Amino acid sequence: MEVVPLESDTEVATLAADTIEAAVRTRPDAVLGLATGSTPLLTYRELIRRHHAGTGPSYARVWCFTLDEYVGLPPGHPGSYRATIARELTDPLGIPAECVRGPDPTEAHLASAGERYEAELKAAGGVEVQLLGIGSDGHLAFNEPGSSLGSLTRIKTLAEQTRQDNARFFGSSDEVPRHVLTQGLGTILRARHLLLLATGPGKAHALAAAVEGPLSATCPASVLQLHPHATVLVDPAAAQGLERRAHYREVYDAKPAWQGL
Ligand code: F6R
Repeated sequence: MEVVPLESDTEVATLAADTIEAAVRTRPDAVLGLATGSTPLLTYRELIRRHHAGTGPSYARVWCFTLDEYVGLPPGHPGSYRATIARELTDPLGIPAECVRGPDPTEAHLASAGERYEAELKAAGGVEVQLLGIGSDGHLAFNEPGSSLGSLTRIKTLAEQTRQDNARFFGSSDEVPRHVLTQGLGTILRARHLLLLATGPGKAHALAAAVEGPLSATCPASVLQLHPHATVLVDPAAAQGLERRAHYREVYDAKPAWQGL
């Protein structure tokens, strides 16, 4: 795992945007794995800014797969992850809606939704770069503490902490759906490059556990330790709990120029 302590959340967004653009330049039909929530928003704004400035790559042939989706919201609800990702990224980049996939939360088909999503991901050739945030309880996508490290896409029940954390998108925690469909930790591990962003003091504890703690279902994000190509971009507030922070920075500063993230 490569941990990159940066000076600010803006630097995190700049480097994340560089990494996503590099993947699309290398492979114009790349499959991008997208996260929702607050953390990736600066990155998304940076990608859109570059796109509008004419300096970004063409997104005409990319495919996007989201990590997760709430169950029980009416179609088109602004808090759904399908609506959120369209509004915050894919519409402004001009990516057609049919090229943006997510787990299908339709009640009648829930039992098979996970299997169908896994099949879609496989048919698309797998995810090139998977953007990830981390929950304050260490969750990854909506794999809450205790989730199997080998899990695949399935329905899950949100932890109370997560419903409280996400109340800001809904008005109150009572309005946050109880159930979600989420890629499993095993699904996430299949992506070729994992790019975890962590910003703000609320992530310091979970990030330290994920990066420097034991590999454990108690901290689902620790599953990154198993991946051969995982990068963690972190701002000073989120890096507070990292014991080897200075070493990570030394390693990054000594990186050969030819070696990207
Ligand atoms: C979102 C997702 C979640 C978030 C996490 C952090 O698709 O899968 O795991 O990445 O809850 O959320 P923020 O970024 O809002 O702190």
